[in-house]
Amino acid sequence: MNHIKIVPQPGCGAEIQGVDLRAMDAATFDAIHGAFAEHGVVFFRGQTLSEDDHIALAEQFGPININRFFAAHPDYPEIAMVAKEPDQKDNIGGGWHTDHSYDHEPALGSILVARTLPETGGDTWFASMYAAYDSLDEKTKAEIEGLNAVHSGRHIFGEGPETYYNSTDAGGNRIGNAAVAEVLDDAVHPVVITHPLSGKKALYVNPAFTVRFDGQTKEESQPLLAKLYAHCFQGDFHHRFKWEPGSVAFWDNRSTWHWALNDYQGQRRIMHRITIEGCALH
Ligand code: SIN
Repeated sequence: MNHIKIVPQPGCGAEIQGVDLRAMDAATFDAIHGAFAEHGVVFFRGQTLSEDDHIALAEQFGPININRFFAAHPDYPEIAMVAKEPDQKDNIGGGWHTDHSYDHEPALGSILVARTLPETGGDTWFASMYAAYDSLDEKTKAEIEGLNAVHSGRHIFGEGPETYYNSTDAGGNRIGNAAVAEVLDDAVHPVVITHPLSGKKALYVNPAFTVRFDGQTKEESQPLLAKLYAHCFQGDFHHRFKWEPGSVAFWDNRSTWHWALNDYQGQRRIMHRITIEGCALH
C-alpha cells in the first residue's frame, strides 16, 4: 500500500496525501473508498491525470454516467465539461446543490479534475449533509422522519423561460438537451437517507432540485424546506476548497452539497467532470 495519509478538513471532507491516482493498489483503493464514504468528499493535490487516466480512475468506483445536459469533451464522451470562458458570465453549479437528485437512482458522485484555473477565485464550497442531519434538533429530526421529497431537473435544464438553460449564457453551448429534461419523471427520495456505503444518516434535500415534500404542495412544503436550508447554510459543516494545478476532488452526491463560486469574471476556468452511477436511496 502507498503510504497515504487521510487528513480531515475543517467542516467537510478529507485531503488524501501520498497517493498517485494513476497507480493505486487494492489496499490504497480501499482506504480511499472508505474515506470517501466517511467524509463525503476527498481531495487530492499534485496529480497528473490524462483524460484516459481520469476515465480509468472513475471506472474503479463504478460505471460512468454520460451526462445528458452538459457539453461533453470533444474526444471523450465520458467527460462532461464544466467550463467558463472569459467572455461568459454565468458558471455551472453556481449555487448550493447536489447533482442528479432528480434521477430515480441518483449518481454516486463525481470526480472533478482542474484543467485551466483562473488566477484568482473559482473555489468550490462543500457542505456535509451527515453533519447537517446530526446537528438538527430532535424536534426537527422527528418532523422529517419518514418524509419523502420530490425532485426535478425540469426547472433547471428544461425549456421554460426561467430555466438555467434559457436564462443564462450557459444554455446552448455548455448546457443543452432541454427536450430530454422536459420529459424527466419526478423522482421521490427519503428526506433522511441511510447512506448506502457508510450506513450513516444524511439529510437529502437541496435548494436546486428538491421541489416539494411528497403529498404536499410547493407552498405547503416551503416553510419546512426553508428551515432545513437555513440550517444547512450555516458554516459549521462547510469547507471551501481552493483549486491548484493538479487538484482533484471526488465528492459523494448522497452526503454532500457543493457550490462553484462565480467570482472570476473575465478569466477562463476549465474542469473535467466524470460522474459515476449510483443506486436507489432508502
Ligand atoms: C459542479 O457543480 O459540478 C461544478 C463544480 C465546480 O466547478 O467546482
